[in-house]
Amino acid sequence: MNGISLPVIKVKMVVVGDAGVGKTSLAVRFTDNSFIQHYKQTVGASFCSRTLDFKDKTVVFNIWDTAGQERFRSLVPMYLRDAGIALVVYDISSHKSFENVESWLLQLQQYGPRDLKCALIGNKVDLEDDLREVPTQEGELLAEGHGLYFEETSAKTGEGIDKVFNDIGSVLVEGC
Ligand code: GTP
Ligand code: MG
Repeated sequence: MNGISLPVIKVKMVVVGDAGVGKTSLAVRFTDNSFIQHYKQTVGASFCSRTLDFKDKTVVFNIWDTAGQERFRSLVPMYLRDAGIALVVYDISSHKSFENVESWLLQLQQYGPRDLKCALIGNKVDLEDDLREVPTQEGELLAEGHGLYFEETSAKTGEGIDKVFNDIGSVLVEGC
């Protein structure tokens, strides 16, 4: 029997944020449902993809996971070209990575398309409370100030990840 195929929306998603905040881990959790404990820095960028079915449409997330290390920063604008969604990721156990969110947002504003949709993600929410340096409310306030979607996630446990992609996918489906 032939299945009925749904209309397809393809979206280019770019993931940015400081080195080590868990960008690759988030992408791997979403596309492969796995987690790698040891840190292997991304060189340049890496690509992965996953399809999610919504009520009457299918969304293909084409994900460009960029490198956060300073020496790769100049490459980010190249990946932002034609992007539909950007995830700006910080690590809830690193206030520094949170402080740098502003400069990532500036990059998106400067080099991303005018209609780029942005989401702010506070990752590593599985860590012990005493390691947390960024209270949830601080993340919420920053997101509110910039009109961004906000969610806390754990690439390690998977917490929040399905929600992020379902919420973003729903917005895309509604907007079409
Ligand atoms: P760059 O590629 O250098 O920009 O780093 P990245 O942002 O891609 O970070 P990556 O995903 O490589 O993760 C860095 C380290 O943090 C790794 O050791 C991961 O195992 C760890 N990590 C990532 N996400 C989480 C998480 O949600 N919880 C915990 N506890 N550790 C995480
Ligand atoms: Mg990486």
